[in-house]
Amino acid sequence: MLPSLALCLAGLSTAFASSVALPNVFVSHEGETKGFFRNVSGVSIYHSYHHQNVTTGGKAVLFVSDIYGVPLLENKLLADSIASAGYTVIFPDLFNGDAVPSDDREGPALNLTEWRSRHPTAEIDAILGLAVDYIHNDLKISRIGGVGYCFGGKYVPRFLAEGKGIDVGFIAHPSGLEAAEVQGINGPITIAGMPMLSFHIHQGITNHVLAGELDNAFNATGRYSTEAILTAKNATYHTNFYSGAPHGFAVRPNMTVPRQKYAKEASFLQAVLWFAAWL
Ligand SMILES: *[C@@H]1O[C@H](CO)[C@@H](O)[C@H](O)[C@H]1NC(C)=O
Ligand SMILES: *[C@@H]1O[C@H](CO)[C@@H](O)[C@H](O)[C@H]1NC(C)=O
Ligand SMILES: *[C@@H]1O[C@H](CO)[C@@H](O)[C@H](O)[C@H]1NC(C)=O
Ligand SMILES: *[C@@H]1O[C@H](CO)[C@@H](O)[C@H](O)[C@H]1NC(C)=O
Ligand SMILES: *[C@@H]1O[C@H](CO)[C@@H](O)[C@H](O)[C@H]1NC(C)=O
Ligand SMILES: *[C@@H]1O[C@H](CO)[C@@H](O)[C@H](O)[C@H]1NC(C)=O
Repeated sequence: MLPSLALCLAGLSTAFASSVALPNVFVSHEGETKGFFRNVSGVSIYHSYHHQNVTTGGKAVLFVSDIYGVPLLENKLLADSIASAGYTVIFPDLFNGDAVPSDDREGPALNLTEWRSRHPTAEIDAILGLAVDYIHNDLKISRIGGVGYCFGGKYVPRFLAEGKGIDVGFIAHPSGLEAAEVQGINGPITIAGMPMLSFHIHQGITNHVLAGELDNAFNATGRYSTEAILTAKNATYHTNFYSGAPHGFAVRPNMTVPRQKYAKEASFLQAVLWFAAWL
């Protein structure tokens, strides 16, 4: 399979004046993080650079996380992996220290409805607005890509709306995405999802989270209505569904299961290839 894929890309590069090269990067899921935190106007922001502390210029990627937020190792490693493709990655703590714990299966059940009410859309919008201003004004970076996972998948489309700051987007298994948000998209977007039937093979997420999270997940119906809106808008878009992938697969699949591992690695490349082409 790999030789024919390479051939196909080689064919593309001769067919078009400017060609897209797949960056020679991979997604890391274990090991040490490379970034650092900085407090920006009261918001703790994880920063990851593609090389030693570049301070200004280049292109940025705003990382909009799932409900596990900055404490989750896989999230920081994913941010580092995107940075390794040549971007300044800015990953704000959306929950002011109140991210959902990822390892609380034994603990008291967390009421996700209540947790969500502590983090309303307006508050998340304000934090992301602050991050966009920080990228533009302090880091002096004008082009911003956005990546959004699960919870965060709603916000990249919101900030892809005209004048909101994100220029190019990638989202994976978005939750709570509304038609009006898709309608407002004003830049290239690529989406990674999974077929509905794979929900029950979800790994490593507590039952209370499962119940709340999957109600709103991006299933086949959501995919088709999203594609219909984007097609009608003549948007530049792309969608991929990964079989056998659980909700959350782009961040924390079970890496010992081949189809899940593939879904994480391929969706990472889906994002960086999209940014290489459009950002
Ligand atoms: C950021 O700094 C402000 C002002 O110094 C402080 O009140 C706040 O607790 C800090 N926040 C974080 C997340 O470190
Ligand atoms: C990068 O800069 C930040 C803020 O000045 C600092 O906290 C951090 O230690 C630096 N990291 C490296 C690897 O130099
Ligand atoms: C969760 O919180 C919501 C809102 O506060 C409340 O209506 C609901 O009864 C709670 N659910 C449980 C299982 O405690
Ligand atoms: C997708 O989810 C929506 C909302 O929960 C539901 O109405 C719809 O039937 C689901 N579609 C499929 C194909 O399961
Ligand atoms: C759709 O968008 C492309 C790229 O921007 C443009 O070249 C084309 O004219 C558009 N088509 C229509 C029907 O607006
Ligand atoms: C990951 O998958 C393997 C193989 O199916 C299984 O043995 C293991 O328990 C799974 N790990 C988690 C954390 O679910």
